[in-house]
Amino acid sequence: MCGIVAYVGNRQVTPLLIEGLKRLEYRGYDSAGVAVVSADHGTQVCHSVGRVSVLDDKLNAEPDRFRATLGIAHTRWATHGEPSEANAHPHLGKTRDGHTIALVHNGIIENYASLRKYLEGKGHTFTSQTDTEVLAKLIAELYQPDNKKGGGLEKAVQSALREVTGAYAIAVVCDAEPHTLLCARKGSPLIIGIAEDAYVVASDAAAIISHTTQVITLDDYQVARLCAGPDDKLTTTGGPWAVDFRTTTIDNVPVTQQVSELEMDLQQIELGGYEHFMLKEIMEQPESLRNCFRGRLDHREGRVVLGGLSKYTRDLVRAKRFIVTAQGTAYHAGLIGEYLLEDLAKVPARAAYASEFRYRNPIIEDASVILAISQSGETADTLAALREARERGALALGVVNQVGSTISRETDAGVYLHVGPEIGVASTKAFVGQVAVLTLIALYVGRRKFLAADVLAHYIDQLEKLPDHIQTVLKQSDHIRDCVEKVVDRDNWLFLGRGYNYPVALEGALKLKEISYIHAEGMPAAEMKHGPIALIDEGMPVVFIAPRGSQYDKVISNIEEVKARGGRIIAVATEGDEEINRYADFVFRVPDVPEPLQPLVTVVPLQLLAYHGAVLRGQDVDKPRNLAKSVTVE
Ligand code: F6R
Repeated sequence: MCGIVAYVGNRQVTPLLIEGLKRLEYRGYDSAGVAVVSADHGTQVCHSVGRVSVLDDKLNAEPDRFRATLGIAHTRWATHGEPSEANAHPHLGKTRDGHTIALVHNGIIENYASLRKYLEGKGHTFTSQTDTEVLAKLIAELYQPDNKKGGGLEKAVQSALREVTGAYAIAVVCDAEPHTLLCARKGSPLIIGIAEDAYVVASDAAAIISHTTQVITLDDYQVARLCAGPDDKLTTTGGPWAVDFRTTTIDNVPVTQQVSELEMDLQQIELGGYEHFMLKEIMEQPESLRNCFRGRLDHREGRVVLGGLSKYTRDLVRAKRFIVTAQGTAYHAGLIGEYLLEDLAKVPARAAYASEFRYRNPIIEDASVILAISQSGETADTLAALREARERGALALGVVNQVGSTISRETDAGVYLHVGPEIGVASTKAFVGQVAVLTLIALYVGRRKFLAADVLAHYIDQLEKLPDHIQTVLKQSDHIRDCVEKVVDRDNWLFLGRGYNYPVALEGALKLKEISYIHAEGMPAAEMKHGPIALIDEGMPVVFIAPRGSQYDKVISNIEEVKARGGRIIAVATEGDEEINRYADFVFRVPDVPEPLQPLVTVVPLQLLAYHGAVLRGQDVDKPRNLAKSVTVE
C-alpha cells in the first residue's frame, strides 16, 4: 500500500528520504511527496504525481529550500481521491499560533467525514479529497502552543489519535519543534530504526536497512517521540549532538520497547544485475526454497521439524477442521493447502477468501484451526478474518514471510517462510514458500495421524530435490520467451488444470493479468465445458497444466476439446512425456514429482510466461498499474 519514510538526525534529509521512498516505491506509486522542517525555513513541502523520480527532480531544482535534517515522505497508492498533487501526502494543518503540522499516513481513517465536518466548523479549509487530511488538521486543532517546550506535538498527536477510528501508521512534524519527529501506529505497519545519531521511521525494513539494523516495532495505539539535534536543544546530555526517544500509548502511558535486530541484508533488496525484481525473485527460488526448508527436513530421523508449532502439536493433531484464509496469490497457495491438508493430514480443510469469510458470520466448530497466509503479514482482510475466527475460538496459525508483521504477532503460533524480502509486486517466491510451508504443515500433522514413516521419508526425499528441480525448469526461460512471443498479441487467455494444478491455473492467470494486462481466466479444466468453452476461437491461447498423474488422461481429453475448436495449446508437461507433443503447440517441461508437490514446479514456467509476456508487451513489470504490494485497506 502506501509507503512512509521519515528521518531526524544530523544528515541532509532529502536524499535520504528519496532513497527510502525508492526502496518503498513497490508499495504504491501513483504520487509522492516530502515535507522537511528546519529552524531557518520552517516547513517546506513538495508533491508530485507519478514515480518518485519526478519528486526527486523537483527537489533537486531547489536544493536550498529543502536543506534540513528533519523530514517526512510518502509514496501513495490512492484509496480516497484520484492520484494528484492535491491528494499526495504530506497533508498539512495550521495550528492556532500559525505553525504548520505536516503528516504522512498509511491506512484509512474511517470517521473522516464527521471529523472533517467538525474541523470545517472550526475554520479549517480542506484542499484534498483524502481521509488523511483530517488527521493533519485535527492535530493542528489540538496543538497547544503553550505546550511546545514540553512536548506539544506529542500531546496533540495522542489526543487526535484518541478521536480517530480506522487504521494508521503516521509520521508527523511541526515547525515549532524542528528537532522532533512523532510517529504512531494502529493496524498499519511501522518500524523505527535506531542509528547512532539519528532515527529513521519506515513502513518496512527495506527503507531502514542502509541506516541501521537496530529497530523497534510499535504496537497498536503506541506513539513514539524521536528527537535528534544539538545537545542544548534536547533534554539529554552527552555531546554536541544528542538523540532521545520515548514511547507511550495514545493515553500517554510510558511504554518500554525491546530493540531487535533486523533479519535482512542490503543485497536482498537490490536488483543485483537483474532487469526486474520479479525476474530476480523467480530466479532465486531454488535458493529461497533451500532457506525455507533449512532445519525443517530431518532426513535421518525421518521427521518434519516445525519449532514454531511444537507448543500446539497436540491441538493440531486433534483439530477437526482447518480454515485456510488469504487473498490473491496467497489464497491460491491456501487452496493448495486445502488439498494438502485433506490428502496428507486427513483433516477436513477449506480455503476461504479472507474478505468473504470475515463478513459471512462464519461457523467455527470446536477444535478449529484458522491458518492465515500472507507474504506481507499486513493484508487488512486476512488480518480481520484471523481475528474473527480467533474471537470465535479457533486456534490461530500464521504462514507469513515478513518477520514481526501484524499477522505474525496476532497468531498463537506459526511458520515463517524465510524466503527473504519480496519486492516485485507480483508475488512469485513467496507463493512457492507458502506452498512449501503448507506441505510441511500437512506432513507434520499427517505423520502424527495416519501417514506411514516410509511415506513421509519419501516426501522428505522428494522435497529436498525440489530446489534442483526448480533450477532445471528455470533453464527454459529463453524457450518460454520465444513461445510467448508468438501468442503475446492475443488479449484473452485461459489457464486450466485439475486437482493440485487447478489452483496453479488460477495463479498462472493472475500472474499474466496483473503484469501484462492481458485478460486471463483460470479454472478447473473440467469446468471449461460448462460455459467458458464458448470463448474458444481460432488461435486463443489455452494453457494446460498437464503433468503426469492420476488425472492426466482427463486433461488430455480437455486438451482435445480445445484443439478441436482452434485453440492454441501451451502445455506444462512432465519431462519425457512424448504423448503431449501430439496435442500441444508449445510445451514447457517440469521434472516428475509426486502429485502433492507438483504445484511447486508447475507454477514456475507460468511465472516466466507472465514475466516475458509483460516485458514483450512493454509493461512495467515491477510496478504494474493500479497495484500495490501490500493491501492494508479492505
Ligand atoms: C499477486 C499478489 C497479491 C497478494 C495479495 C495478498 O501477485 O501479490 O495477490 O498475494 O495481495 O498479499 P499478502 O500475501 O501480503 O497477504
